[in-house]
Amino acid sequence: MKNNHFPKWLDDAVFYEIYPQSFQDSNADGIGDFRGIMERLDYIKELGCSAIWMNPCFESPFGDAGYDVSDYYKAAARYGTNEDLKLLFDEVHKRDMHILLDLVPGHTSVEHEWFRQSMRADPNEYTDRYVWTDNVWEQPEGYASIRGISERNGSCAVNFFSFQPALNYGYYEPDPEKKWQQGIDDAGPQATIAAVKDIMRFWLGMGCDGFRVDMAGSLVKNDVEGKGTIRVWQDIRAFLDREFPDAAMISEWGEPDKSLQGGFHMDFLLHFGPSHYNDLFRCEKPFFAGTGDVSAFVEKYVESCQKSEGKGLICIPSGNHDMERLSRYIKGDRQKIAFAFLLSMPGAPFIYYGDEIGMRYTEGLTSVEGGYDRTGSRSPMQWDNTVNAGFSRAPKKALYICQDESEDRPTAALQMADEKSLWSEVKRLIRIRSQHKALQSRGRIEFVYAEKETYPLAYIRQAEGERILVVLNPSENQVTFPSEIVPAETIYFWGGEIAADSEVITVPACSAGFYVI
Ligand code: GLC
Ligand code: CA
Repeated sequence: MKNNHFPKWLDDAVFYEIYPQSFQDSNADGIGDFRGIMERLDYIKELGCSAIWMNPCFESPFGDAGYDVSDYYKAAARYGTNEDLKLLFDEVHKRDMHILLDLVPGHTSVEHEWFRQSMRADPNEYTDRYVWTDNVWEQPEGYASIRGISERNGSCAVNFFSFQPALNYGYYEPDPEKKWQQGIDDAGPQATIAAVKDIMRFWLGMGCDGFRVDMAGSLVKNDVEGKGTIRVWQDIRAFLDREFPDAAMISEWGEPDKSLQGGFHMDFLLHFGPSHYNDLFRCEKPFFAGTGDVSAFVEKYVESCQKSEGKGLICIPSGNHDMERLSRYIKGDRQKIAFAFLLSMPGAPFIYYGDEIGMRYTEGLTSVEGGYDRTGSRSPMQWDNTVNAGFSRAPKKALYICQDESEDRPTAALQMADEKSLWSEVKRLIRIRSQHKALQSRGRIEFVYAEKETYPLAYIRQAEGERILVVLNPSENQVTFPSEIVPAETIYFWGGEIAADSEVITVPACSAGFYVI
């Protein structure tokens, strides 16, 4: 399988993730909305980002912040109307930017009409829309279930929280003893796939540029190697190739060798799965905090690149709405070195709103909308030093989530006015990336130095005859590594430049640099 249609704009895309609840409130009700996002598009553009991923914005009881959809075709009233959303698409496009919506194909809310119908005893169009056993006393093995709340006699598999019933894409190898387990090609799973295509068709037709797909690897059940789920996505890929060849697709899967086979253009490396992403930013000793180990990450990364054979992009996010904020482990200027990494790696980089100013994880919050420990990473954006940091004119107690109350909390306004701020560094890095093909999504990478429990990390990026050496040393010591490379020109550095003789490169403590070789 090769991707025939690879949207050109992904070559140098830098994404910005917006959690719509917390970005900008335009009508003083304490929660972010589409109009608010429109007001802030110039900010995103000025930072240098060229694309947006927005978390789910559809009708929902918001038990899981909108990942429990009750109507896929309707924007949640709290954010605005479908017309407002269309206007947002238009405003994004006017600025030569793109926007991905969040598609949640694995489950719905229990309040979705499909599920209500599916709970009825009399057979109807939605009887097979979810994964049900045929007896309330039997639960689907390996999955939690919803049981005892339907007149239908059965238990329904759950995909995530207990109010998120699993949509039916079938079992990879249905057990012939269990008549209720369906195969991917049976009518129920096929109708689910058709329903998902309809939803995609609706929003793509309205002007969105593609989707970030929630739990993309979770569709087919008892599918240990993902082969059934890959097949489902290949079918959806064929539909997109026919009808929306420019739509961009990124999966929350965490296993690029699988998802890219499924026809996704991009997959995330995340805090779960085999990638060792956490070794870099979020563990007891993260590499970018200065005393960690990058070698397992690099080993796995190289393996993923080989296995996925350049079929698509492996994307490394600064964070997201499910992880602790980057700044919880990576302090102060080391965040600049972390961004030098994020913005010089292959794949499309994703910046989680607020990470560009080092927004902090807000400690000690009570869970909001199923956030639990994720809530502290979802607090409202800090724009300036006006009321509620410019996020909302609502009374403080009406805010969706409490903000960081520290006096020295970072704000966009302060950092934009300061040449030496994290914001300014991120902007500089994005600009440099945009000027060098070698640093962009599809440039090749070759690791030069990534040894166990030592620093620095060094790699060469390459495209169209240009070769750039990247050297990152977040440790507090000056370090050296053996290399015969002699850089020709420095295109970026922070914290000091490397010195090369013909055998060894010496790297200053706490530094990052890009060098043409
Ligand atoms: C994904 C989302 C997360 C959500 C879950 C269930 O992991 O990123 O926020 O809770 O799926 O949909
Ligand atoms: Ca609002």
